[in-house]
Amino acid sequence: MPGRVIAIDGPAASGKSSVSRGVAAKLGFLFVSSGHFYRAFAWGVLRDGISPEQAPGWISGRRLEVRLDASGVSLLLDGEDATPHLSEAATAAMVSPLAAVPAVRDMVNTCLRALAAEHDLVMEGRDIGSVVFPDTPWKFYLDASPEERARRRAREGAVDSVAERDRLDSTRATAPLTIPEGAIVIDTTHLGLDGVISAVLELINAGDVR
Ligand code: C5P
Repeated sequence: MPGRVIAIDGPAASGKSSVSRGVAAKLGFLFVSSGHFYRAFAWGVLRDGISPEQAPGWISGRRLEVRLDASGVSLLLDGEDATPHLSEAATAAMVSPLAAVPAVRDMVNTCLRALAAEHDLVMEGRDIGSVVFPDTPWKFYLDASPEERARRRAREGAVDSVAERDRLDSTRATAPLTIPEGAIVIDTTHLGLDGVISAVLELINAGDVR
């Protein structure tokens, strides 16, 4: 039987990852960052000296292995662990241009849907409720003010431009960042992490989630 999917979408640094992790831990579901899949391929194109324009041909020859252990999901690209490279500045700069390529999105979506065939998931991303799992009844969209998101990113020590990634992610032709139909929108600007996790869990338990 396919697993349940709780979809949590939103722009960069909206709190999706921490909230999704917390909700997954409470429910005993698997936490999946779909962004990590795009980042693994972004690292791969840099490793192989490929441009986003060349990605459609390149990606068909790639082997992405999803490993699950006590610490969660890790990704191996052509047998190499991508984990140490996911947060690198070069990866962050490449990821949004690469994520705009439809062939890359198709490949990632196939991997994400395969996970849902076997596990209950809390999955965060940009198009989880709109494109990857449009039929799930559990959809959330987290947002926060641009200033607060920039502050959170700086606190994490991240060096990439959140604003530029948001611009690319929201304006691309395929699966742009959008509020999925039926999603509950939560503005996390003035909410603590525990407050958002509780709110999401309450909505799920109350069956209020459309
Ligand atoms: O969530 P994270 O910041 O790791 O995502 C990195 C990038 O991956 C995003 O800026 C976006 O370009 C891409 N992405 C996407 N669709 C998703 C998840 C991430 O296009 N579902």
